[in-house]
Amino acid sequence: MVCTEFNIEEAKNWLKDNLNEERYNHSIGTMEQAVELAGMLNLNVEKARIAGLMHDCAKCFPNDKLLKIIHDELTDVQDYELVNYKTLHAPVSAYIAKTEFGITDPEILSAIRWHTLGKVEMTDFEKMIFLADKIEKNTRNQEFRDECMALITLKNGLSLAMFRCYQETIKSLVDRKLAICHITISVYNDLLASSKMV
Ligand SMILES: [Fe+2]
Ligand SMILES: [Fe+2]
Repeated sequence: MVCTEFNIEEAKNWLKDNLNEERYNHSIGTMEQAVELAGMLNLNVEKARIAGLMHDCAKCFPNDKLLKIIHDELTDVQDYELVNYKTLHAPVSAYIAKTEFGITDPEILSAIRWHTLGKVEMTDFEKMIFLADKIEKNTRNQEFRDECMALITLKNGLSLAMFRCYQETIKSLVDRKLAICHITISVYNDLLASSKMV
């Protein structure tokens, strides 16, 4: 057992009460996708189930609540993470997972913490949760899912699939004339370098 206090049915009920229907379905999809990927990649399936289910637990909190938790409770959130409100839920979701659900496993908490912006030199477990969030079958594009699942089977496949995610993220930000965080560029360059090592 990785988290003795954690009860998955209680967590699902909490998520039903605290997420909208689409986000709840996305959370279930991410949990199932994470379990599948963990099996393929020889990662811890039980941790994958918990991290996948809980990764967006604070997603539907109002922005003022997210900012208050970040201001009052979290010391490691950087200014660049506050630029886009869509990314605020990641550090807060890790905080809620820890404080409300008793999840103390650092690998699970870190994967939740970094599932939006990512960071350079992510662990395989962090990458796997990041990817599961992008390709789960309940709410994401299935053609893109199929493409990533094919990449996963190749040598260095997790980095290749992550690189495809960052390609799409950067293209989408450019198309919408939105700012690109310097961390996103750094992760893109990091993944580009590692995908060339295949
Ligand atoms: Fe998220
Ligand atoms: Fe998500």
